[in-house]
Amino acid sequence: MNSYPVIKIENLTYTFPDGHAALRGVNLTVEKGMRMAIAGKNGAGKSTLLLHIAGLLDGDGIIEVAGMRRNRKTISAIRNRIGFLFSQVEYQFIMPDVLNDVILGLSKASCAPDDTYTAAMEWLSRFGIAHHAHRSPLDLSSGEMKRAALAGIMAGSPDILLLDEPLNNLDRENSEVLVNLLREQETTMLFSTHRAFMIDTLATHCAVMEDGCITTVLTRKEFKKSRVLRDLVF
Ligand SMILES: Nc1ncnc2c1ncn2[C@@H]1O[C@H](COP(=O)(O)OP(=O)(O)OP(=O)(O)O)[C@@H](O)[C@H]1O
Ligand SMILES: [Mg+2]
Repeated sequence: MNSYPVIKIENLTYTFPDGHAALRGVNLTVEKGMRMAIAGKNGAGKSTLLLHIAGLLDGDGIIEVAGMRRNRKTISAIRNRIGFLFSQVEYQFIMPDVLNDVILGLSKASCAPDDTYTAAMEWLSRFGIAHHAHRSPLDLSSGEMKRAALAGIMAGSPDILLLDEPLNNLDRENSEVLVNLLREQETTMLFSTHRAFMIDTLATHCAVMEDGCITTVLTRKEFKKSRVLRDLVF
């Protein structure tokens, strides 16, 4: 299978309205099938970069997602092809119960199934939360909430999954459950993390972000060997 870029970013810059330059010429390519971690200190610009790829912030430079160059005409099609798990996952539920949130996700898939109820319940089973189908997502534990959000996101069969600090608030057991579920997905992934565990068990590659720039992209093996870069995660 030939690999091709699912994300291509060239010279992306962004300054917040208060004058803070958060992205200072980001270049990054993520090819199909990669699971790329972004490691970097607090404030390096990881979340700002993910928000740009998701089409929620609009800096200068070139962004291509799933073969579409981002502009006013393509932005909604691009948003539709992206799944985004926010670091504060409670903000991303739209529907009043878990089941309907997944049904909403299914409507994003290019080929939505006829029997959405059954398909949604299957997604919830896969993520181990079918028994919470009729509860409000906001009443779930942090671990369950992340899995509920992910079930809805994956039901939309995104071309790329963006995850901002996916292990935020999770204990060890729930971190392992989440990483194992992510490993089962074939979707291309780009995720920010401070956790060595995520890089060691999930990533195929690791990009290093410093002061608004991607300074290095390494394979997981290379990252493991680099003492200096390894210190960015714990
Ligand atoms: N709304 C905003 N207005 C002004 N500056 C902002 C805003 N949001 C973020 N910033 C600044 O932009 C820089 C990059 O922030 P960002 O949240 O992208 O960093 P990060 O790498 O995700 O950090 P962390 O590891 O803490 O999540 C930081 O200096 C931050 O203070
Ligand atoms: Mg962040």
